[in-house]
Amino acid sequence: MKEKLNQIEQDFSNALASSKNIGDLNALKSDFVGKKGALATILKGLKEASIEERKEIGAAANRLKEQFTVQIEQQARQIELAEMNSRLEREKIDLSLRDSVQEKGLRNGSYHPVSIVQREIEDIFTSMGFEVLDGPHIEDEFHNFEALNIPDTHPARDMQDTFWFKDMAHLLRTHTSAIQVRGMNTHTPPFKFVAPGKVFRCEATDASHEMVFHQLEGMMIDKDISVANLIYFMKTLLSQIFGKEVEVRLRPGFFPFVEPGFELDINCLICGGKGCSVCKQQGWVELLPCGMVHPNVLTAGGIDPSEFNGFAFGLGLDRLVMMRYGIDDIRHLHSGDLRFIKQFATY
Ligand code: FA5
Repeated sequence: MKEKLNQIEQDFSNALASSKNIGDLNALKSDFVGKKGALATILKGLKEASIEERKEIGAAANRLKEQFTVQIEQQARQIELAEMNSRLEREKIDLSLRDSVQEKGLRNGSYHPVSIVQREIEDIFTSMGFEVLDGPHIEDEFHNFEALNIPDTHPARDMQDTFWFKDMAHLLRTHTSAIQVRGMNTHTPPFKFVAPGKVFRCEATDASHEMVFHQLEGMMIDKDISVANLIYFMKTLLSQIFGKEVEVRLRPGFFPFVEPGFELDINCLICGGKGCSVCKQQGWVELLPCGMVHPNVLTAGGIDPSEFNGFAFGLGLDRLVMMRYGIDDIRHLHSGDLRFIKQFATY
């Protein structure tokens, strides 16, 4: 019996070494530790053996059963791991789009049209002595609304459909005007800065409206600033971006943080002013709201309104990009469609 057990141990070890998959291991289990396997046969044969032999061989056979079971499980885990690794290798997904980019012959990256225009505007303003500021996407009520003269119950809050966080105290900023407040708190007048960035509004999209879009805020605070200064900078910006004089109109506009407030519209360059889906058949595109900073806003920013005043504007960057390149739907800008983006490759 002892020799038989030794033989079984040897056979098991050979069979285990040549088991390559889970199917082989299942067969091995049934051949050696199953109900009709080699060890069960030995245990059944003990009926005729002496008591001492039954004790000794029975214990040794049960030990081997446990040992074989553990070895089979260990090998099964190794095989499963190896199979998973090879499947991961086979089914690997290349999220980098490298292959498809190379297939389409796009070997070099380039700037997104919004970035191209943003950088140009930053250059135009820095050449005129403006700083470029940044601000957080997640804002608090104070910076996005309260400090801008929009208290809790003011109906102007409804003009900007807002993504609130669960605490109802934080939100995705609805406009870059929040950076005005941060700029005033960190600067001592006189100062002037622009502040570009993404803004977020929970609204239905169409040819000229997105939920995530870009604005570029501008602010100048000094002594004796007038609407003439504001118009000068707006005209300089537009003539440099378009490389020619463009037709603009200024009309009164209400924003609680400026007084007086204006809407600066640009003659629609998509349809030449005839009327299309981008200008909503108006011939004019609302591009650049602006005005003289309200005294309450200066006070909230720690600036004495009896000593300093200034202007602010909030350019709709995506719409400017559309006018500049003749893009007839704002949704192309964030579509991620390479056929669209490829047209702006500059190198
Ligand atoms: C504002 O957001 C004000 N903070 C702007 C401002 C700043 C006024 C400083 C005065 C002084 P408004 O909601 O109109 O205003 O948005 C500004 C510009 O962003 C619009 O003229 C338009 O060009 C663009 N815009 C507004 N909503 C969208 C949208 N859903 N999709 C794309 N562009 C938009």
